[in-house]
Amino acid sequence: MPATVIVGAQWGDEGKGKATDLLGSSVDYVVKFNGGNNAGHTVVIGDQKYALHLLPSGILTPGCVPVIGNGVVVDLAVLVQELDALLERGIDVSRLLLSANAHVIPEYNRNLDKVTERFLGSRRLGTTGRGIGPTYADKMNRVGIRVQDLFDEKILTQKVENVLELKGQILAKIYNRRAPEVRDTVEELLSYADRIGPMVADTGLLLNRALDRGETVLLEAGQATLLDVDHGTYPFVTSSSATAGGACTGSGIPPMRIDKVIGIVKAYTTRVGEGPFPTELQDESGERLRQAGAEFGTTTGRPRRCGWYDAVIARYAARVNGVTDFVLTKLDVLTGLERIPVCVAYDVDGTRHDEMPVNQSDFHHARPVYEELPGWSQDISGARSLEDLPANARAYVTAVEDLSGARISAVGVGPDREETVVLHSLA
Ligand code: GDP
Ligand code: IMO
Ligand code: MG
Repeated sequence: MPATVIVGAQWGDEGKGKATDLLGSSVDYVVKFNGGNNAGHTVVIGDQKYALHLLPSGILTPGCVPVIGNGVVVDLAVLVQELDALLERGIDVSRLLLSANAHVIPEYNRNLDKVTERFLGSRRLGTTGRGIGPTYADKMNRVGIRVQDLFDEKILTQKVENVLELKGQILAKIYNRRAPEVRDTVEELLSYADRIGPMVADTGLLLNRALDRGETVLLEAGQATLLDVDHGTYPFVTSSSATAGGACTGSGIPPMRIDKVIGIVKAYTTRVGEGPFPTELQDESGERLRQAGAEFGTTTGRPRRCGWYDAVIARYAARVNGVTDFVLTKLDVLTGLERIPVCVAYDVDGTRHDEMPVNQSDFHHARPVYEELPGWSQDISGARSLEDLPANARAYVTAVEDLSGARISAVGVGPDREETVVLHSLA
């Protein structure tokens, strides 16, 4: 197993953190390659629960080297807070590496994210307000600030002057906010240099050298396929490449070195923020999923929108990412339902679509075509092998597998690391 990628196959919060943690003990490096502290990955180990936003989930595995790759956008205050919180809980964080090429999220971009959303009103995207979009926009616009800039005050000052020339005016003249001072911004950024200095590295080089030595690397995505800036439900997406291709650009590991792509898919569907969601349930069935699955955002606490499993988007995720294995999570949440609808295709104005419609407007009014599967009532949280599952739960797994375009190699039956049915080894 040279390099393995873990990606979300839906709209996020599929359980990537748990899956990464599960594999963490068998890998040498865990790399976060996209996104920033818009992510919220929950890992439950025994009676301890950890909510990670910026740090890769591998930070919890002793011996594993956690890496923040070049594709990540880093809020330095959050980085320090998260590290301190883990240190207080006795977690060794000394192995963390931070790419010199990762971009940082300055305060003005957090402010711009929030004021833009407020300005948009009913047309807002429902972002996490963490400055993610404006920071990736700066990166593409070639006016971003990188981690390495914190170690050259002259260059940093020039870059901040350059970017604030325009952004200061936007904040002041369009949004009626105080324009940030160049000096304040530079000083704030410089204040982190000593703390992060020892972590900063040429992570692309280190990771490729590790692979040369036969060590193993796990690349952990934030967000998910349908939130990917290219392949998601644009413009209702995040601003990074959350799919398997992004694992290469966001880490410096070439495609040929990746031999496994694990898609994490929930046994039903959720979404936070605005945007189309064909299987969304606005009734008590949706509320039941929300309560049973504790579907409230790890990052913003917002109630997640809930709906039935959508095999069309799972097939799409399998194709876009080249998924070799799916991990089907939260099957236990479906326990107690008499019948479970699964979306197998869409009806768009009377035409059946087995694949994602190419035109986003069609996706906005796609109506799900459902097949109903029989439910089960037995508690499945103690199941550790397929045989432990009731026949109808097994049939659900098989049906979802047949519809979704890749084999299901593990099934989640509870939040704990141990609460997993392994069908095929993922190591
Ligand atoms: P991520 O963003 O993909 O890492 O997912 P989140 O951590 O935001 O959301 C997934 C939630 O489901 C977390 O609270 C996990 O502890 C929990 N979880 C993960 N797998 C399972 C499972 O199989 N069953 C149940 N009941 N909860 C799970
Ligand atoms: P994990 O890694 C679910 C959503 C936001 C919003 C859109 C854009 O925990 O799966 P952004 O702040 O990124 O500009 O917001 O993307 N979003 C997520 N939804 N899980 C996430 O991360 C998300 N990260 C961003 O709600 O709709
Ligand atoms: Mg999450």
